[in-house]
Amino acid sequence: MLDFSKVKAERLSKIYDVSRFDCGDDDLNDFIKNDAFVYQEKKLATTTLFFYEEKLIGFFSVAADSLKLNFDEKENYGIHQKKLEDIPSIKLARLAVDKNYQKQGVGTNILKWCIGYILDCSEMVAIRFITVDAYPEKVNFYRNFIVNQNRHYTKKTNHISMRYDLLNKEFTSPSQNIKPEALLMKL
Ligand SMILES: CC(C)(COP(=O)(O)OP(=O)(O)OC[C@H]1O[C@@H](n2cnc3c(N)ncnc32)[C@H](O)[C@@H]1OP(=O)(O)O)[C@@H](O)C(=O)NCCC(=O)NCCS
Repeated sequence: MLDFSKVKAERLSKIYDVSRFDCGDDDLNDFIKNDAFVYQEKKLATTTLFFYEEKLIGFFSVAADSLKLNFDEKENYGIHQKKLEDIPSIKLARLAVDKNYQKQGVGTNILKWCIGYILDCSEMVAIRFITVDAYPEKVNFYRNFIVNQNRHYTKKTNHISMRYDLLNKEFTSPSQNIKPEALLMKL
């Protein structure tokens, strides 16, 4: 296991060299090398980079989203506001770990860090769910500990739509949550 306490998080900026990142997925490699900065400038998605011993080991990108729930789902979540159709959410648009650092708990820790970051953001602007469109073969990575599948939503792509309830007390206890204070101070 890689010692995640030694990992540093930084907001994406041109000062960082992302050209050697390789997670094994061409689309995600292309995104971080060619598109992520433009997405951030145009306020379409913001990206956080993770460094270990000065090497880029992973990143995630997030953007605002909304989630439509049917009546029963809203009741299950204790949302009794009948007229509220779109539930405020954040989409975890991309998450990747460099091939040299996979299977060492890095992806799981980035996911936890990301949830802590979104929880902090939700103190300023209401966010109830994290949504994820996962590659079918990666569903277990997310399902392992946080995200429930959106059974009622099928995507045009072959991605699986998933969601995580930020009121899920099991995860949001301070002991489990990796707080992103270092990054927030820099924003
Ligand atoms: C998906 C991805 C982010 C996972 O990152 P990761 O750092 O390998 O994730 P973790 O190490 O936390 O967990 C991955 C697996 O390794 C296992 N693992 C963790 N530490 C381990 C260790 N020390 N020894 C062996 N296995 C370990 C975990 O149990 C987990 O098993 P699972 O795949 O059966 O759930 C990474 O594989 C990746 O970037 N893939 C390419 C891009 C991608 O597919 N992104 C997701 C888009 S939906």
